[in-house]
Amino acid sequence: MEQFKHFPVMAKEATDALNCQNGKIYVDATLGGGGYSAIIAEKISPDGKLFSFDIDDDAILAAKENLKNYKNITIIKSSHTNIANCLKQIGIEKITGGVVYDFGASYYQLTSKDRGFSFSKEAPLDMRFNKNDDFSAYDVVNNYNEENLVKIFSEYGEERFSKRIAKAIVEYRKKKKLETTLELSNLIVQTTPRIKTKIHPATRVFQAIRIEVNSELENIKNTLINILPFLDTGAIISTVTFHSMEDRIVKNFFRDNSKKFHDGKLEILTKKPITATTEEIKQNPPSRSAKLRIAKVIE
Ligand SMILES: C[S@@+](CC[C@H](N)C(=O)[O-])C[C@H]1O[C@@H](n2cnc3c(N)ncnc32)[C@H](O)[C@@H]1O
Repeated sequence: MEQFKHFPVMAKEATDALNCQNGKIYVDATLGGGGYSAIIAEKISPDGKLFSFDIDDDAILAAKENLKNYKNITIIKSSHTNIANCLKQIGIEKITGGVVYDFGASYYQLTSKDRGFSFSKEAPLDMRFNKNDDFSAYDVVNNYNEENLVKIFSEYGEERFSKRIAKAIVEYRKKKKLETTLELSNLIVQTTPRIKTKIHPATRVFQAIRIEVNSELENIKNTLINILPFLDTGAIISTVTFHSMEDRIVKNFFRDNSKKFHDGKLEILTKKPITATTEEIKQNPPSRSAKLRIAKVIE
């Protein structure tokens, strides 16, 4: 495995939001390299408990090593959509402290040379967060019909040349299957007009395929629905998102479950999302699109 690198985004803000207290139960729903988990574990020592979830074996391996000195962390390989069931199985009835989500992919996943997320590194078309899943980028690119390709490129990638790209993929497939990242990225480059922009022409399509392969948007909806009944009064939900589509799902969920607007059990603590400081954006440019939203269970 390549060296696991990830630069946690808004780590201080997202974990401060949890108002960590010794003795309570916390969940890091998206462990990654364990950046957030280390901060939480430190704050809740010695009697607090942290349960950290991920579905990527590489992340879990790296985090286990990074967090090996903390005694109060349990790492669980499972989707965050299944947190409540996993915790019930080990005798936990409620999350008393809070849960933090840092949605999307890690730097390691996006740049790793063999995971198939990068349009500039030759690899089989893969992009699965969970290597045990059967469904990969190969299936999307080779099996989706033209209409569905257009839909995901437009909706998840906001790609303006969705139709041309989808058509080119379908034409190409008549001769042979698309096997690799560079095969797809070269096809996109050939198909789209040369316009002056800082981003590579394949960026948006690769993002869209990644979101589709990993059901990222459905998972955000489902995890929030499933976790809410499992949060004790006073517990916090802290979420970091990177795309407007993700942010909209969190925003709507908070609003639909807020005491103020729908007699729900949440108090929204961030009227507007919190964004990264200019200092952080300078040091870690991907943080520029991060949005942090926080809510508290007040029932
Ligand atoms: C942005 S990274 C998290 C980085 C982490 N906060 C840190 O400080 O290192 C997102 C992580 O979420 C994981 N992930 C994606 N979908 C998931 C799911 N359904 N359940 C659990 N983890 C998931 C990815 O594998 C990735 O490791």
